[in-house]
Amino acid sequence: MRVLLLGSGGREHALSWKIAQSSQLEELFIAPGNAGTRQYGKNVALSTTDFPSIKTFVLENRVNMVVIGPEEPLVKGIHDYFLADEALKNVPVIGPAKAGAQLEGSKDFAKQFMHRHAIPTAKYATFTKETLDQGYKYLDSMKPPYVLKADGLAAGKGVLILENLQDAKAELKAMLANAKFGNASSRVVIEQFLKGIELSVFVITDGDAYKLLPEAKDYKRIGEGDTGLNTGGMGAVSPVSFADPGFMDKVKNQVIIPTVKGLRQENIPYKGFIFFGIINVKGDPYVIEYNCRLGDPETEVIIPRLKSDILDLFEGVATNTLSERDVQFVEKSAATVMMVAGGYPEAYENGKQIFGLNSIEESIVFHAGTSSDGPAVLSAGGRVLAITSYGKTVQVALKRSYDSAQKIEFEGAYYRKDIGFDVL
Ligand code: AMP
Ligand code: GLY
Repeated sequence: MRVLLLGSGGREHALSWKIAQSSQLEELFIAPGNAGTRQYGKNVALSTTDFPSIKTFVLENRVNMVVIGPEEPLVKGIHDYFLADEALKNVPVIGPAKAGAQLEGSKDFAKQFMHRHAIPTAKYATFTKETLDQGYKYLDSMKPPYVLKADGLAAGKGVLILENLQDAKAELKAMLANAKFGNASSRVVIEQFLKGIELSVFVITDGDAYKLLPEAKDYKRIGEGDTGLNTGGMGAVSPVSFADPGFMDKVKNQVIIPTVKGLRQENIPYKGFIFFGIINVKGDPYVIEYNCRLGDPETEVIIPRLKSDILDLFEGVATNTLSERDVQFVEKSAATVMMVAGGYPEAYENGKQIFGLNSIEESIVFHAGTSSDGPAVLSAGGRVLAITSYGKTVQVALKRSYDSAQKIEFEGAYYRKDIGFDVL
């Protein structure tokens, strides 16, 4: 197969690492990629949302499978663009069309979908500028903390959790009346706060069958003990200790099956990954959010735990034969620790040279935000490197990642020392 993978983060480095191991691979292109992905394929300077340029590249390079890493091209309709084009319509795209990507692209759509299919989730209501006063009244009727969610994509910043009613009302107004998140907050979902422990569950589906992938736990806050600002994710572990067979049976029966079936019933073809952000409330799963792609940094632990040939699974998705494919896992745990730029998630500097990458033997270093300058590797993002290790247990894997992190240096580098603290 001649594969084009879109994206440039740790998720895409991990996917390119896995795709490169496939016996079915003829050539891999990554657009735009990073200094890590070029080990496994050819980086191509294309924007993930420049569909006409992607078309030209696909045709000129006889690409016969396109794998989408991030949500933005999916929500903007890259799959629909391929289906509507005579020359592209037979090139399979791994990632849902716009209608299915709405699960992530619109919180209101996702909530209504869950409501229609009796999928457990927090109680909610949706408001617009015109119904701001009703929004205030709804907040009055709720108990703190207050959860406000911009309906559309807001680069991971669209969820606000507020302790105080006055602040919640002010933020609701800022989102609806003052376009705090631009068009993404022209609608706002207010929902009940759920207290519990979170995990990320993933499936791949061809729209009929689905296969469960390993679950993971992500650590989103910048500070140890889950404190401070939200980030894209500071580390992850897999498996997750509380995701025992009893809990995962509930996830399967109450969440996964109704979701896949619901999409089918609503004639929403869905080919790709579904990411369920789940919260365990006293042993019962509730859906916090859907994403239409894999998570980052979760991918950096779940993809290394996948034993099966990933292009075989993608082919199953493309040809509606996923049910016939075999999914096997590596019987080892995995952990990843994210090294980030000093200052992240607020202002930080790029272009710091990274030293020590060649000294790492016990871990796989996935590049999250890097660029290259000749042989030198430079930081090029807030999240810079995801240091993944295997272990007999999550604990052993984490220790390996921390040992490796000590051998890597760049100016201002920071990482959390307590990944996994709540599940060990
Ligand atoms: P998101 O940006 O959608 O991933 O949401 C950010 C974070 O907000 C989630 O990972 C949760 O920790 C938290 N969150 C979202 N919705 C709720 C809720 N209803 N109850 C408690 N926490 C929530
Ligand atoms: N790690 C969470 C996400 O990818 O959205």
